[in-house]
Amino acid sequence: MNLADLNKVALAMVTPGKGLLAADESSGTIKKRFDDINVASTEGTRRDYREMLFRASEAMTQYISGVILYDETIWQNAADGTPLVRLIEQSGAIPGIKVDEGTQALPGCPGELITTGLDQLAGRLEKYYRQGARFAKWRAVIDIGQDIPSRTAIHVNAHALARYAALCQAAQIVPIVEPEVLMDGDHDIDRCYEVTERVLNKTFQELRIQRVALEGMILKPNMVIAGKKSPKQASVAEVAEKTIRLLKTCVPAAVPGIAFLSGGQSDQDATAHLDAMNRTSGLPWPLTFSYGRALQAAPQKAWSGKAENVAAGKLAFIHRARMNSLASKGEWQADLEARKAA
Ligand code: 13P
Repeated sequence: MNLADLNKVALAMVTPGKGLLAADESSGTIKKRFDDINVASTEGTRRDYREMLFRASEAMTQYISGVILYDETIWQNAADGTPLVRLIEQSGAIPGIKVDEGTQALPGCPGELITTGLDQLAGRLEKYYRQGARFAKWRAVIDIGQDIPSRTAIHVNAHALARYAALCQAAQIVPIVEPEVLMDGDHDIDRCYEVTERVLNKTFQELRIQRVALEGMILKPNMVIAGKKSPKQASVAEVAEKTIRLLKTCVPAAVPGIAFLSGGQSDQDATAHLDAMNRTSGLPWPLTFSYGRALQAAPQKAWSGKAENVAAGKLAFIHRARMNSLASKGEWQADLEARKAA
């Protein structure tokens, strides 16, 4: 392992004013997104859609530091035969790859999940590196409910995240460590704080035990936020203040950067929260975005599977990428939302 090079890639992923595009939806998830816009999900439509994003050159060269790909995409070619990975590299962004293989029910823990994909991971990482991937992602899922999460679910998911991270670093790939506490429930923001604190503390404990070099990883956490069904929604200022307070207590300053997931927040909420956090001075790490839905919902809708809408889809993506770029510098303002790229 060459830690200096891992650190260089990690820092490039959180370059000021840039963030990550999470375009790594599994075939099942992208089908759900395409169902919403009445587009059949085929290898061809998935390729066309992602090619549209990667060819939105203003977004890719100015606002996007790296793209998380799904296994299918990393091997696909654009319509003119250029590998999609090369399109990303040519724009100056770094290709990355989702390497977890989804979740399974966790035995003994009703309602809880464990992420799978460790068994053949070392060999897969080698192939992905050869194909151009310089970072990877593994998502652990922690749900909040009346009697969950259990200590067991937190422990085994943190253990798997650290196993994955250690294997990535051995393969000269920067691991994005993503322990996602879901915002699906009716819990309030303080319950999210408490659960996320337990999850992050256990995750960093496991990372240490398994000798993961913190300088060669990126953390992708949820924000501290009320559940979607909670009657008590927190203000932007409260989300920002509690998220930063929590991260400061749990995340060592040696970590090169933090790139949040959007987790089902509206586009504008995800941007406003990131912006509010970046208006805080004296943060120990760069804070940026690694959004899936909050970057892609608008371009998906604008595109709607039609070749004649590709230009509109690109503009919608450029706009969201620019808004989040500004938020990563604490320079976003709500009235900029109306001024769409043209
Ligand atoms: P969302 O921003 O849609 O949560 O997706 C990010 C991601 O990569 C989840 O694993």
